[in-house]
Amino acid sequence: MQQMRAWRVEGVGEPARVLEFGTVGVPEPGPGQVRIRVHTAALNFSDDLVCRGRYQVRPEPPFTPGMECTGRIDAVADGVDWQPGDRVLATTTLPHGALAEYAIADTANVYRATENLSDSQAAGLLIPYQTSHIALHRRARLQPGEILLVHAGAGGMGSAAIQLGVSAGARVFATAGGPDKTALCRELGAEIAIDYRSEDFVAIVNGATGGDGANVIYDPVGGDVFDRSRKCIAWEGRILIIGFSSGRIAELPTNHAMLKNYSVVGVYPARYAQKDRPFLEQTHEELLRLLESGAIDPLIRLQVPLEDAARAIGELTNRNTVGKVIVHVDAPQTDV
Ligand SMILES: NC(=O)c1ccc[n+]([C@@H]2O[C@H](COP(=O)([O-])OP(=O)(O)OC[C@H]3O[C@@H](n4cnc5c(N)ncnc54)[C@H](OP(=O)(O)O)[C@@H]3O)[C@@H](O)[C@H]2O)c1
Repeated sequence: MQQMRAWRVEGVGEPARVLEFGTVGVPEPGPGQVRIRVHTAALNFSDDLVCRGRYQVRPEPPFTPGMECTGRIDAVADGVDWQPGDRVLATTTLPHGALAEYAIADTANVYRATENLSDSQAAGLLIPYQTSHIALHRRARLQPGEILLVHAGAGGMGSAAIQLGVSAGARVFATAGGPDKTALCRELGAEIAIDYRSEDFVAIVNGATGGDGANVIYDPVGGDVFDRSRKCIAWEGRILIIGFSSGRIAELPTNHAMLKNYSVVGVYPARYAQKDRPFLEQTHEELLRLLESGAIDPLIRLQVPLEDAARAIGELTNRNTVGKVIVHVDAPQTDV
């Protein structure tokens, strides 16, 4: 059997403890799947959660983590339309994730990558921009001129949401932890950036809107941040539930949503792959156009070789990263 370098989760727990780097057999694609020769993988906060067994997808160890990658198709199952050599972006199918030389993906989760995209841009595009585009446009129906408040705006998801909000003509406010991250939110196009570790974002958002609040709130943090967001959501506003990086899933007193006439809107694009793949294709083509026009550009500050992926997951967990963290599988690179 052909061998490859790969990270493996040997038993769920803290990533630094359960991740092991070694050599394993190259996986075979099952029905409806492709095998991808991985060039770059991009890390997500969910990589931490999946190692701990706290993500919605819970593969049995040992498994290779890594939710998304770019690379070239290397092998396909019978009847699959992709050809070996096609350049693609994909979300992977665990247990054969992206932190390895070869990954497996269901065809429903594979998209074309144009040749002019760099490997890093391509790897940074899929999950944050697809999710944020669906969140802002399909789920929240964001309108030009509306106020969009993006929490954790310097993060992988948040930075994509700021860029997409600006390109949609919204007035974007952002929160982030610390002055460096708020400065970055302003660079990305946020009109107001609030350090929510030291400032009261509710008072600032309400103050800046004459007491009306934000029309759309994009929340990848949850917990107290969600609870506080209910105090600055506008009449007929939409709070987008993106994730729970705070570690707490908040609960909603439903009378509050009734009395203030706002909506709490879930966003989980993975389900669209089964329900409406043509819509995901359209979204992807729109994202490629936005990238080509310069309206969006994945924020990438940390790039590491495959061997350093576990350390990079630790940085993500500890709130030390901004934008997308890219893992170079083919051509090892140092941090930038
Ligand atoms: N719905 C979906 O389909 C979908 C898709 C992808 C990701 N997600 C979710 O979106 C969230 C963000 O993912 P990401 O990959 O973009 O991560 P990220 O935003 O790059 O990193 C997480 C950020 O959350 C903030 N944060 C607030 N409280 C935290 C805490 N107690 N511990 C750690 N971080 C905390 C930190 O930013 P500050 O320092 O600025 O506070 C941190 O940098 C995750 O919950 C992820 O699972 C959901």
